[in-house]
Amino acid sequence: MTGVRQVPVPASGSRPALDAARLRADFPILATSVGGKPLVYLDNAATSQKPRSVIERIQRYYSTENANVHRGVYQLSERATAAYEAAREKARAFLNAASTREIVFVRGTTEGVNLVAASWGRHQLRAGDEVLVSAMEHHSNIVPWQLVCEERGALLRVIPMNRRGELLLDEFERLLSDRTKLVAVAHVSNSLGTVNPVAALTRLAHARGVPVLVDGAQAAPHLRIDVQGLDADFYTISGHKMFGPTGIGVLYGKAARLDAMPPYQGGGDMIKTVSFARTTYADLPSKFEAGTPHIAGAIGLGAAIDYLAALDWDQVSAHEADLLAYATSRVSDVPGVRLVGTAADKVGVVSFVLDGVHAHDVGTIVDQEGVAIRTGHHCTQPVMEFFGVPATARASFAFYNTRADVDALVGALQRVRGIFA
Ligand SMILES: Cc1ncc(COP(=O)(O)O)c(C=O)c1O
Repeated sequence: MTGVRQVPVPASGSRPALDAARLRADFPILATSVGGKPLVYLDNAATSQKPRSVIERIQRYYSTENANVHRGVYQLSERATAAYEAAREKARAFLNAASTREIVFVRGTTEGVNLVAASWGRHQLRAGDEVLVSAMEHHSNIVPWQLVCEERGALLRVIPMNRRGELLLDEFERLLSDRTKLVAVAHVSNSLGTVNPVAALTRLAHARGVPVLVDGAQAAPHLRIDVQGLDADFYTISGHKMFGPTGIGVLYGKAARLDAMPPYQGGGDMIKTVSFARTTYADLPSKFEAGTPHIAGAIGLGAAIDYLAALDWDQVSAHEADLLAYATSRVSDVPGVRLVGTAADKVGVVSFVLDGVHAHDVGTIVDQEGVAIRTGHHCTQPVMEFFGVPATARASFAFYNTRADVDALVGALQRVRGIFA
């Protein structure tokens, strides 16, 4: 390993340990095999696995509560509505938002960003204005801004990072100007694992009156989120990355911001009155939830939030820090490995390239050992370009992963080395 900071492996047993074995038993898929090998699931940044309580909650909804929400006067619809709105309250508590009016159910982080770009961006951006994103954004926090900037004649500008994958705060301050109309930045990078100092970025942006959107897709499964503490104007999360279902997520927006924004989509549920001459819109958050929502998804997300709320987060954080340090050390000891993303503040991700072996070959061979990792650009092509690699192999962790999972990955990487030797 060259030019990479060695991460110390903490001594085990120096704190009350998370009982990962007990938690693993809550996730049925983790007991399955692939190709005759026990599944070692290390692609949690792409999507996380689901605990039984989430799976059963969705089944219970469809078995005993299924009806459309907000419309029926009959008991079943009232029950479905109550469960859907209870999930909104759980999401509010999870993000520590001030009000459920600030919790909009969306398909996921991608739709959350697109909602803000389409509604806020289209109506606020003017020719010559600037939107700042960071050099490590997922495509879903780049392309929606490019689309709206193109339409409005505005400019997308990029907060640079250093070779460890850390944003340069002084460059950020230099980029902030009277032309800056929004900062959109990831809380945690999906391809590097960097935890960005979003509270500091927000303070600096707000000092110039610039609102901030935080992409929290990768933060939600690892960090405790406090949108009021961060003072974020918008914060987006995806249910499927935080042990909930696919197709559901949350856009948090400060009520004053959401109130001032026009609807994103038109349709049922988002209106007060409709005539051919004029339509008036529903209050928050319904104004942004046109059509029948993903009711089962929201309720499943609520169950995932309940699951997370029952965990001891000091233990989870210690366990994940240990896993990351252990994986960083073990993976970087494999001959020919170069880590991509070595920020001082990281969670959940070890991204790497193996000398002389394409990342896709790494992924395919480790899969034969039952180890699921992601290979490719991770929807962050500018990050790959910055580090001068076409792709990386990425192991990403959840609290249910163990040192044994890391050992399995390293064993599989040794096999890759053997094949390509
Ligand atoms: C940092 C980040 N932002 C946004 C997204 C998009 O999330 P989704 O596909 O759930 O909308 C992802 C997904 O990988 C991500 O990692």
